[in-house]
Amino acid sequence: MGKVLACIDGSEISDRVLTQAVERVKKEGGELVVLYVVEDFCPIGLTEIDCDMVRELLMKEAKVIIDQALAKVRSLGVEGKGVIKEGRPADVIVEFAKEEGVDEIFIGSHGRHGAKKVLLGSVSSRVVEYATCPVTVIK
Ligand SMILES: Nc1ncnc2c1ncn2[C@@H]1O[C@H](COP(=O)(O)OP(=O)(O)OP(=O)(O)O)[C@@H](O)[C@H]1O
Ligand SMILES: [Mg+2]
Repeated sequence: MGKVLACIDGSEISDRVLTQAVERVKKEGGELVVLYVVEDFCPIGLTEIDCDMVRELLMKEAKVIIDQALAKVRSLGVEGKGVIKEGRPADVIVEFAKEEGVDEIFIGSHGRHGAKKVLLGSVSSRVVEYATCPVTVIK
């Protein structure tokens, strides 16, 4: 196994995504990459300056999410690589996985917004549909 990609969004399920991805790396070897995508956020009505401030806050939050994830992964005995990207999460995940030659994507069935009555969140369902490598959906 070459590269395992764990997609996290700071939700409770992200913890299980990390644990399972670590298990896979421990069993099969390879590199663990942890990805968090900051959403492009600039609604109509906000000025460019407002949006820059929002973006800066979201970036800070992203760093915290990635740092906590890497600490967790390390505590489980694996050295992961953290990546923060900006854009539409599902599209960024699919593109990143292709570019990096990822062998398996780990993703949660739901995330932060968590409408539990849908089977899969919008990000995970798009990734399952468009990814060109195997996707493991953690529930
Ligand atoms: N911004 C993100 N960066 C990286 N991975 C993400 C991101 N958002 C979601 N994911 C991944 O997708 C999984 C499912 O989240 P998803 O966003 O699809 O569901 P949701 O938040 O419950 O619903 P919604 O479709 O309303 O966002 C998460 O557990 C996480 O693994
Ligand atoms: Mg979501």
